[in-house]
Amino acid sequence: MIADVQKEILSLKKEKDFCILAHCYQTPDILEIADFTGDSFALSTKAMDVENKNILMCGVRFMAETVKIFSPDKKVWLSKPDAGCPMAEQLDIDSLRKLREQYPDHVVVAYVNTTAELKTLCDVCVTSSSAVQIISNMPEKKILFIPDCNLGSYVQKQVPDKEIVTINGGCPVHSSLTAEDVRKAKAAHPTAQFLVHPECIPAVVEMADYAGSTTGIMDYVAKSDCREFIIGTENSIVQHLQLAYPEKMFYPLSKHCVCPDMKLTSLTDVLSVIKGHAGEEINMSEEMRIQAKKCMDRMLELGK
Ligand code: 13P
Ligand code: SF4
Repeated sequence: MIADVQKEILSLKKEKDFCILAHCYQTPDILEIADFTGDSFALSTKAMDVENKNILMCGVRFMAETVKIFSPDKKVWLSKPDAGCPMAEQLDIDSLRKLREQYPDHVVVAYVNTTAELKTLCDVCVTSSSAVQIISNMPEKKILFIPDCNLGSYVQKQVPDKEIVTINGGCPVHSSLTAEDVRKAKAAHPTAQFLVHPECIPAVVEMADYAGSTTGIMDYVAKSDCREFIIGTENSIVQHLQLAYPEKMFYPLSKHCVCPDMKLTSLTDVLSVIKGHAGEEINMSEEMRIQAKKCMDRMLELGK
């Protein structure tokens, strides 16, 4: 059944000129039919290099918006209109205006997990894989980092010469992981290395052997001689790593670390979007797109 749907998708996507992008948190049946898979950073820029008329993002809304910002002439589709990132919607534009007034001499750095509307008021955008590098490359010292206070405080520790102000925002999935979860997992697997995403709370990140983005964690495993790992990020990464390295053992830090929004898209949804029966085409005014693109262009410049 899965194989039949996958076969139909593979043939229809050619006929209808679709390129399928899938975030690593999607299920393996979707990753298998995607043209490109990756973390937020890889996906945000990938569509610029492809010729297809249609781009289908299997992920959450801000990811489809970032594709549209960089590729205005393509039709960009979000697989499930309800798939949003709760963190991206924690701060509204009026609250950000007030924050800018409160911190007039700070540069506003936005995590890519923000709406396109919010990006119009930000100076620089970062992803989890590029935040440390970009912020260290910035000439400015005073930074207002939105919305993830955990990623903000992780960057502050890596780049101590900057003054980073954070707000009360973050990923509900990653910040649900606790230091007690780490103590229990380490007691159960004493020889395992502990790898964590910087969206987790500082008390958890401090206990890690390595902290990094989705791709960073997967690259770390590829290079490590260790045979056992405790994974402190969304549990699909545990599944992908186990498939990629069957000779190693991967343990989720908590069985509850699952992003419900990332799991909304099913393989049959992908087929329905390509058939024109489902999904949402992402549209925004050209004024908003151009203004939102400025902080993303700066991300690309500073990330070089
Ligand atoms: P990355 O893909 O940049 O690691 O971010 C993880 C995440 O939570 C995406 O929403
Ligand atoms: Fe947003 Fe967290 Fe889900 Fe990523 S894992 S989409 S940051 S809620």
